[in-house]
Amino acid sequence: MARLEGKVAIITGGARGMGAATARLFAAEGARVVIADVIDGEPLAAEIGANAIFQKINVASQQDWQSLLEATGQAFGPPDILINNAAIQRFRSILECDVDDFRQVLDVNLVGTFLGLKIIGGAMVAKRRGAIVNISSVDGMRGANGYAAYSSSKWGVRGLTKVAALEFGPRGVRVNSVHPGGVYTDMGNPVDSAKEDIDKGFTMVPAQRIGLASEVAAASLFLASDEASYVMGAELAVDGGWMAGFYNSMLSGAPEDKEYGARTEAHGISSYMDDALKAKAEKLT
Ligand SMILES: NC(=O)c1ccc[n+]([C@@H]2O[C@H](COP(=O)([O-])OP(=O)(O)OC[C@H]3O[C@@H](n4cnc5c(N)ncnc54)[C@H](O)[C@@H]3O)[C@@H](O)[C@H]2O)c1
Repeated sequence: MARLEGKVAIITGGARGMGAATARLFAAEGARVVIADVIDGEPLAAEIGANAIFQKINVASQQDWQSLLEATGQAFGPPDILINNAAIQRFRSILECDVDDFRQVLDVNLVGTFLGLKIIGGAMVAKRRGAIVNISSVDGMRGANGYAAYSSSKWGVRGLTKVAALEFGPRGVRVNSVHPGGVYTDMGNPVDSAKEDIDKGFTMVPAQRIGLASEVAAASLFLASDEASYVMGAELAVDGGWMAGFYNSMLSGAPEDKEYGARTEAHGISSYMDDALKAKAEKLT
């Protein structure tokens, strides 16, 4: 496959997790990839081969972004694709979260994304060509307790994506956001539970399981490729259906609703609650 043939792609947080899955997939699709991370990405670059380099970067540092742009240019030429994927998480409620923790999360997740847009996006605008994917989260689409800083940062990434789409779109650069749900990586599984055990906690998601890094990488691939030439400022949830809504266990159709089948058989397609409502209405007539 060669959906990114001839493209140069920078992937932040590319040394592990979703970033690493994205680097592998993009390279397999013909891109030359720059793995940009604060941890060591040399082993992954060596695994991918001549079409990958590793560049150490703290995404919160403007100077590091400038060095990344230069290193990319020297190795492969100007960047065509940026995946703003690097992020950190602090599982803390508002009352538990120190202001320094809050600032640190915003610095990496939101300021880091801003700097990527400014430095790499700026270079793309100068060439009037490029595609940027900002990795937000379902936590950038709704609130979650214990996610004070993280959720704030991911809402910020989502908002910044819209601004960038408006400003860069007329200048040849598409910007979109991806919103993963739970994904089986170090961040999504910090205590190293077995996947089958984690899946049991995902009954609130239509897919009934946690997602895989490769499934998010596939969404980024589409948005980064020329196949998405008319997709700008969009937000793509890759969340097993989590953002589609919530299950009401009192109504039919919920995954844990063991009586659903039996009731459907007994009452046709109407639910137990519908029948009860009808019975009440009949009493009134
Ligand atoms: N795993 C999930 O459940 C989940 C869900 C929704 C969204 N996300 C988002 O997906 C993206 C990838 O997450 P992941 O699950 O692969 O996490 P991960 O922790 O496995 O990987 C994150 C990568 O970012 C790098 N990184 C952290 N701080 C950095 C910095 N200052 N500069 C450069 N690199 C830095 C880390 O070294 C690491 O390689 C993140 O944006 C995350 O917020 C993850």
